[in-house]
Amino acid sequence: MQKNTKDISTVVELFQCPKCEGELSGFVTKLICVHCKNVYPIKNGIIFLKSNFKSDVKLSYGKWKKLYLSEKKKAVTLKDAEQNSYIKAYLRFMKKGDMNGHFVDLGAGLGLMSLVVAKRFGKIPILIDFSSAALHEAQSIFKQNNARGIYICADITDPIYKKSAIGYFFSSMSLEYFKDIRSALELLYRSLTQNGMLLCVIPKVSLTTLTYHQFRSGDIPDVPFVKEVYEFLHLKIFKSKFLKTGYNVSYRKSKIEKILKGIGYKIIHSGDLQMSYQFALLPFGKNLAQSVVGHPWFSPLLLVKACKK
Ligand SMILES: C[S@@+](CC[C@H](N)C(=O)[O-])C[C@H]1O[C@@H](n2cnc3c(N)ncnc32)[C@H](O)[C@@H]1O
Ligand SMILES: [Zn+2]
Repeated sequence: MQKNTKDISTVVELFQCPKCEGELSGFVTKLICVHCKNVYPIKNGIIFLKSNFKSDVKLSYGKWKKLYLSEKKKAVTLKDAEQNSYIKAYLRFMKKGDMNGHFVDLGAGLGLMSLVVAKRFGKIPILIDFSSAALHEAQSIFKQNNARGIYICADITDPIYKKSAIGYFFSSMSLEYFKDIRSALELLYRSLTQNGMLLCVIPKVSLTTLTYHQFRSGDIPDVPFVKEVYEFLHLKIFKSKFLKTGYNVSYRKSKIEKILKGIGYKIIHSGDLQMSYQFALLPFGKNLAQSVVGHPWFSPLLLVKACKK
């Protein structure tokens, strides 16, 4: 109960009402907006800070909900998380010295990165995801590993973050499931503390996202005219059948950098994410595929580390 109360006061200190941006007041079983009086329930350790989803977010929400509910639960140890090839690649860019203030994992999913951050950097990470099934699973993984986290079920594009409140935003492939990435990045900037950090991994327009990823999870390349064609095909013709994880965009590096700089971020690093991929869909030729994705034309993910100056 005491731990719960402490977590609730942390949430009240850092987050606000998604509907009216009013202050929240914390109780054991709910948060209430002091301004619009909207009630946000707390159930089984998860704080539900949800408001009405925009249509693109709604599409992604439905797809992720289905995916998580169909997934089999499995035990994950800290060692498993640390050996995950994505996490290994991200850790090269995460230093203890950058970890000031509160650590927020956006679209945390099962929260494996957060688990590593909790254990390695002694943090109590805040995991946000719009899927409560994912957060329940993350909770159980944290419990298995004797780690502590705070779990918020919310849409990361909502104005839930208070101004100048968060020290570190981390996003591993969660900023591509909606249309307006600029507004989302603006919200995060507003909420970062001075020198606060953003580390995000975003799909990059590449020969891989234009081909392989179309079959894997669908993708809308953010390139003028091409975007409209892919959107039309995916949404209108195929009725989102191939958008297996919802509205799913890949971006050009130059566009992301321009947006970040325009908002005021200082870019510390921006480049292709170098890591080893699994290629689950390929029956053979995995080694060849691995060397191909190392090439900038094929490399499908962009890692950006930026801070608020
Ligand atoms: C590709 S998974 C990544 C999960 C985790 N970050 C990782 O790297 O393993 C994307 C996650 O983002 C979540 N997500 C997508 N859009 C979201 C949104 N608008 N608000 C909150 N969560 C979102 C999904 O539910 C999913 O868990
Ligand atoms: Zn409110």
